Amino acid sequence: MEPHIDALTMEIHHGKHHAAYVANLNKAIAGNAALEAKSLEALVRDLTSVPDAVRTAVRNNGGGHWNHSLFWNLMGPGAGGAPTGALATAIESAFSSVDEFKAKFEAAGMGRFGSGWAWLVVNGGKLEIVSTANQDNPLMGKAIAGCEGHPILGVDVWEHAYYLKYQNRRPDYLKAWWNVVNWAEVSKLFEAAK
Ligand SMILES: [Fe+2]
Repeated sequence: MEPHIDALTMEIHHGKHHAAYVANLNKAIAGNAALEAKSLEALVRDLTSVPDAVRTAVRNNGGGHWNHSLFWNLMGPGAGGAPTGALATAIESAFSSVDEFKAKFEAAGMGRFGSGWAWLVVNGGKLEIVSTANQDNPLMGKAIAGCEGHPILGVDVWEHAYYLKYQNRRPDYLKAWWNVVNWAEVSKLFEAAK
């Protein structure tokens, strides 16, 4: 995905950051048969059923695992371009144009102070742009994440996602990121979430 997203950032991002979320989630739920039996998505969708003692660890690390698992699938070499089909129509109807959508999505990424994510979600059948702090996810619901919906596109705006190549230039990273977005995957997620 060079030159837009560099290899060293991705190696550290996947091999160290994401790996740590997985290891720490496993550590947090170890020995709790009910939690161990749940899918990752069930865990993050229902944090209120997680015992107090490990809820923050499951929120941060379960969210981190879910968010990054989505993120890798949203990108690819030779991707980019524009959304097509029903997804393109839905984006145009919700945001008036793909360019307008991209500008609003980038603004959501820029508006997230500190670490977090910007998302395109399907909420009640409609497309919305939202953002979350840290490793929160719209699936966690309004009371926890401050927003809701099913993510079909998400960009990591933690500094670990861009600092080596872009340093403090988050806007440049967000603009470059469109060059690696796998719109076919986003379309698939859109159809499933509808
Ligand atoms: Fe990340």
